[in-house]
Amino acid sequence: KGLRVSDKGFLNTAVIQSQITYIDGDAGILRYRGYPIEQLALHSTHLETAYLLIYGTLPSEKQLRQFDNEVMSHSYVHADAENFFRSFRYDAHPMAILTSAFAYLGSYYGEANPSLQGQKLFTNGDRSSLANMDRQIFRIIGKATTLAAMAYRVRQGREFVIPPAGLSYTGQFLYQMDHLGQENYKPSPVLEKALDVLFLLHADHELNASCTTVLQTGSSLVDPYSAIAAGCASLYGPLHGGANEAVIRMLISIGSPGNVPAFLESVKRREKVLSGFGHRVYKTSDPRSFIIRKTADEVFKVTGKDELMETAMALHDAAIKDEYFVKRQLAPNVDFWSGLIYRAMGFPLDFFPVLFAVPRVVGWLAHWRQMMLQEGGVKIWRPRQVYVGSAKRDYVPIGNRP
Ligand code: CMC
Repeated sequence: KGLRVSDKGFLNTAVIQSQITYIDGDAGILRYRGYPIEQLALHSTHLETAYLLIYGTLPSEKQLRQFDNEVMSHSYVHADAENFFRSFRYDAHPMAILTSAFAYLGSYYGEANPSLQGQKLFTNGDRSSLANMDRQIFRIIGKATTLAAMAYRVRQGREFVIPPAGLSYTGQFLYQMDHLGQENYKPSPVLEKALDVLFLLHADHELNASCTTVLQTGSSLVDPYSAIAAGCASLYGPLHGGANEAVIRMLISIGSPGNVPAFLESVKRREKVLSGFGHRVYKTSDPRSFIIRKTADEVFKVTGKDELMETAMALHDAAIKDEYFVKRQLAPNVDFWSGLIYRAMGFPLDFFPVLFAVPRVVGWLAHWRQMMLQEGGVKIWRPRQVYVGSAKRDYVPIGNRP
């Protein structure tokens, strides 16, 4: 009663106060905890930025060393998990595997489950509660790369690799991926750094669909592993984290620069979507897309240029000048160039959303922690609907129905 649908798609509904990430979509500004994304991409690392997003300040040397150690020492996954991974079909989408793997992982850690331990498990002001929360955060970030690498290897029928010590976060990930199948594979420092920059850029983006899903799911006080699994499921869709994969499929289908005008016409006839363009918040270019474009050049120096690059550039240059897209304020987003880098690095196409989800666990956890520790505790997220179905009617036995 008295309700009306006022904001389909949540275009203008703020559900939480947050101190984590600031976006000005008109000016193309993105800041984590006040620091411009351009400065972080240039000077920081993914793990230092993770610390910043989660705890709100840049760490001291000692704090960063401890944080790195905690995260990296949690990269091992229990040997029993091998059976779980081997239960998937050889052609399972790796996002389906990763999503399930996070929920599976939660079954190991009853200490993080408010259903088992009591609803006040993660409350503000209690040291052991905060330590418990931190442990889950280290675990999820530390194991995310290992779970992703396992999802990758199981499809190739290859043995799993124990995460080696002494490497960086992305170095260890690339090592476990050993994705080019080379003997004694050592990650190239350029690719390791490029992936670290991409991870940092993907670490958070305030209340996108997946982060909102994590918070909505977490608001029922479910354990953080289940909330992260829900976030993965949301990210998987082609309008969100699946867009980097969709961009490559689109470029392959366009085929060559000469076919770009015809493709854009089909988008205008609404037969196709221009993947990698458009954003709910940015009405100008996504600031991350400039950094990614530069990173692509660094990567191509090592890997060689991706053959789709010419088509991508022709599409980009034509779309940003085309009145249809300009009028609708559709500009390149983070996914437009990232897929080309992943492809050049040799990752399979359907693995791209995984490369989005792995770093994004950081942002999800930062928002989850902020929500759990907010003053007054968590309130379950339960929106309302406006019912427009049938009025009351009586049940009709099956023999009497028309
Ligand atoms: N191609 C063609 N037309 C588009 C596109 C696009 N990529 N995006 C929006 N439009 C049109 C849309 O049809 C509408 O036109 P009209 O007003 O004539 O009906 C207008 O632009 C406004 O778009 P909207 O659908 O109201 O925008 P939204 O905020 O609901 O959707 C979006 C945002 C990202 C889902 C959408 O732009 C889109 O589908 N983009 C392609 C997929 C993509 O690249 N997603 C990645 C987003 S960034 C990273 C992430 O979140 O994962």
